[in-house]
Amino acid sequence: MKILGINAYHGNASAAVVCDGRLVAAVEEERFNRVKYAAGFPAEAIRYCLKEAGITLGEVDHVAVPRNPYARLGTKLFYAIRMPSFARERAKVLVKFTGIREALAAAFDVHPQKIKATFHRVEHHQAHLASSFFVSPFEEAALLSADGLGDFASSMWGTGRGNRMEINDAIAFPHSLGLYYSAVTQYLGFLKFGDEYKVMGLAAYGEPERMEAFREIVQFSPNGGTFGFKLGLDYFTHHRTGPEMSWAESDKTPVLGRMFSEEMGKRLGGPARQPEEPLEQRHRNLAAALQARLEEVYLGMLRKLAAKTKAKAVCLSGGVAFNCVANGKIFDQTPFEQVYVHPAAGDAGLAVGAAYYIWNQILKKPRTFVMDHAYWGPEYTKEEIRRAMDASDVAKGGYCVMELPEPELMRRAASIIGDGKILGWYQGRAEWGPRALGNRSIVADPRRPEMKEILNRRIKHREIFRPFAPSILAEKTGEWFEKAHPSPFMTLAYAVRPEKRDKIPAPTHVDGTGRLQTVTREANPRYHALISEFERQTGVPVVLNTSFNDNEPIVCRPEEALDCFLRTKMDALVLGDYLIARTEPRSVISNR
Ligand SMILES: [Fe+2]
Repeated sequence: MKILGINAYHGNASAAVVCDGRLVAAVEEERFNRVKYAAGFPAEAIRYCLKEAGITLGEVDHVAVPRNPYARLGTKLFYAIRMPSFARERAKVLVKFTGIREALAAAFDVHPQKIKATFHRVEHHQAHLASSFFVSPFEEAALLSADGLGDFASSMWGTGRGNRMEINDAIAFPHSLGLYYSAVTQYLGFLKFGDEYKVMGLAAYGEPERMEAFREIVQFSPNGGTFGFKLGLDYFTHHRTGPEMSWAESDKTPVLGRMFSEEMGKRLGGPARQPEEPLEQRHRNLAAALQARLEEVYLGMLRKLAAKTKAKAVCLSGGVAFNCVANGKIFDQTPFEQVYVHPAAGDAGLAVGAAYYIWNQILKKPRTFVMDHAYWGPEYTKEEIRRAMDASDVAKGGYCVMELPEPELMRRAASIIGDGKILGWYQGRAEWGPRALGNRSIVADPRRPEMKEILNRRIKHREIFRPFAPSILAEKTGEWFEKAHPSPFMTLAYAVRPEKRDKIPAPTHVDGTGRLQTVTREANPRYHALISEFERQTGVPVVLNTSFNDNEPIVCRPEEALDCFLRTKMDALVLGDYLIARTEPRSVISNR
């Protein structure tokens, strides 16, 4: 039984293939077309997934699309009458959705009737919930999708048991924790899609101020009819104008329209910050309050969810589930003892969720798969890597290139990191989701406080307030962090133990936390070996890990890794079994 999940015409377009209940491949379209958060139809992602599964489009039994135009039809019609332009936009998307079969046929150059698969529509949040529960290790769990907006709802909760999910409640448009965060993010002068995560980093530099205002901007829902919250709509515009999301440059990068009203400025003490204006302490404090209020509401919802379900485990998805700072507080502030966050908790993950919704919920098949690693994307052969090197400037001289057996490769790579150099680390299959987890990573020495500034200046060109993340040997987590619960997908932030903070200053955020990746030998043997070797050489079982890119989607092919290495000031690159260094060999590749 072969199921193709497709997230199309929506940010983070993606595809996934599930064969007989096992995930075979999952990837975002942005990795191929090189447009961050790309929307549109994910033809290349589908092509890759089918190739990885060794099947043709004609052999697919089911196609699952995570959108149901008929969900919350009453609410949609109510707003369509009030917002005709918004209704027109949605109608256009609907037309595209009804043409998924045709789009697939066109992409694969076959007649639509040659596609034998049954097509399914799965409601957005049910696909989110399925993406986390059906691939989690839990037999029973509480489920929460905390999100911006999808199928006219922002959040949904339920319970999962065996191969069934039961939906209990949802919060409908216009009330949305994700849109709340986006609106205040815009007010603070960060206007790009995805900038919410920058503001989450900024929040650690402030002290919450005007909390009473934020408690009006997002209010706990008093009627008990939902488990959550409502927005103080005076501070927003999206309920009047529609949540405008357009796709710049012909259906590519998503762009959000302005969502906050003049009232927000009045209540928060001044006009919105323009992107080019300097960041002041007031902005940091407002970011801290934004985050603090999110945590109050999010953790409050989780407490209610725990009380209603009596579950000890919770599965999280939706864009808000990427708030690793809030997630890290779940263990102390809710009764939940176990947490699973899908590595692609945002809308990319809908492709996997929709496919598993069909397999488990619709076809009632038993669960046999746990997503315990995130390496579901493309891999390139040694020959392909060699060809990419031969075709690049690396072959023109001035670089030291060595093919090394694994122990030697690890020894030299770890010593390069320990010498304070920046190392590109490219191995195996690409990660699913927005985090680099040791296959498409840039790694550096966590012991050096200056590494953050060096990485930013030489390679990443990011705002200085954004933290870098640590990868730690899973078995050492409790020695270095105040929590030891696994965080394999970098979706939880824990406090670094106070006595360890000055040992790993580079990936320790200003508030003493780290958005850690716990690395097991089973999930990624080579990355585990690298960190183990770094520990052997330095006594520290941690490396700084940031994604292998420079303001672009994470590199996918070896050509892109080489290109990023060559155009930035990275010192060395490990590409499969090859070590490439840009300076005179002995100075970089010391033989420790
Ligand atoms: Fe979503």
